[in-house]
Amino acid sequence: MTAPLRSGDPILVNVGLGTRAYDILIGRGLLASLGARVAARKPGSKAAIVTDETVARHHLAAAQAALQSAGIDATPIIVPAGESTKSFAMLERVCDALLAARIERDDLVVALGGGVVGDLAGFASAVARRGVDYVQVPTTLLAQVDSSVGGKTAINSSHGKNLVGAFYQPVLVLADTALLDTLPEREFRAGYAEVVKYGLLGDLEFFEWLEVNWRDVFAGGPARGNLAAPREYSVLKSVQAKAEIVARDEHEHGDRMLLNLGHTFGHAFEAAAGFSDKLLHGEAIGLGMALAFEFSARRDLMSKADADRVIRHLAIVGLPTKISDLRFGAPGIDRLMDLIAQDKKVKRGALTFILARGIGSAFVARDVDAEEIRTFLAEKLASR
Ligand code: NAD
Ligand code: GLY
Repeated sequence: MTAPLRSGDPILVNVGLGTRAYDILIGRGLLASLGARVAARKPGSKAAIVTDETVARHHLAAAQAALQSAGIDATPIIVPAGESTKSFAMLERVCDALLAARIERDDLVVALGGGVVGDLAGFASAVARRGVDYVQVPTTLLAQVDSSVGGKTAINSSHGKNLVGAFYQPVLVLADTALLDTLPEREFRAGYAEVVKYGLLGDLEFFEWLEVNWRDVFAGGPARGNLAAPREYSVLKSVQAKAEIVARDEHEHGDRMLLNLGHTFGHAFEAAAGFSDKLLHGEAIGLGMALAFEFSARRDLMSKADADRVIRHLAIVGLPTKISDLRFGAPGIDRLMDLIAQDKKVKRGALTFILARGIGSAFVARDVDAEEIRTFLAEKLASR
């Protein structure tokens, strides 16, 4: 199986949302074209670049230069790196800075960073002056394949993750894969979990392609002859899958829930780790997907051999697939079930989970008995 794309050109995916449709461009070195692309869409506009301290060190100067080359003045707004930045305090700081920089409704916010910056800057754009356009320039693999697409923006509250936010679509996503060259390998691997997710939930062929080509995706090697390079191809396939789902179900009443494959188990472990670097979001999703496939096989929805195959791939790239892989003390079963119930309400003893009838055949199961989950997880905890 090969990647049927020509190298060189930026790859374009459109998110078909009518008057709020937008393009996602994928390619190496695209950041340099940011100014020209913004100027073409919004002539005469000013910009603010929201980024975090780490990304600023690596890529802010290039983003400012790209805007400046098209005559666009850009005010940098730099926030601390890390999940705790998705807070009310930082939202206030970013909104204040946007207003101080006189960013008007016909100006533009650039979210330059990973999912944290994208979620925060996107939400600030949604509420500042009741809505300023924003462009996503995702700098992590996770952000390129997931969080920059689809318009979910949010901050966290003391009640939980992403509980205050808005659906607010960007006007453009520029996924420059060269920006990933500075990303630590652990962060890249965590983002890869979301790439595998698209194969697992709806595309067996893509999963099979990843089984063969994952090393080249990690290595970021060059294009093969006339074909797109493996890393760009994996971003393209992910973004295409997400764009199609978002276009069908923007506000998550149906199919978009499939994107939560592995998230209910995963969020519980992420919360138990205090949303810290003891367990990155993507690592939690890796473990969550392994458990979701094992549980699906246990329910005789699919073969154990296929569940094992999924787990083997996640493990071979270095993602956690067992509770014993965690770098912190796993919570007890009562705490784990509490965390699961916080993530998904238990309705008459039943939970909604994303399960699978095979690799590439995920579905929304609304009738999962909470006791069945409890027994399954208690066994996993006991067998550590
Ligand atoms: P992140 O934004 O915290 O970035 C991870 C780390 O990498 C940070 O320390 C950051 O400073 C650093 N970094 C980013 N780009 C870099 C680069 N190019 N070079 C070097 N370092 C770089 O984390 P993330 O994994 O990108 O995103 C996780 C967040 O995304 C979570 O808050 C999660 O809830 C959210 N999310 C949102 C959606 C959505 O649809 N909106 C989807 C999935 C995840
Ligand atoms: N990451 C899940 C979604 O965008 O719906």
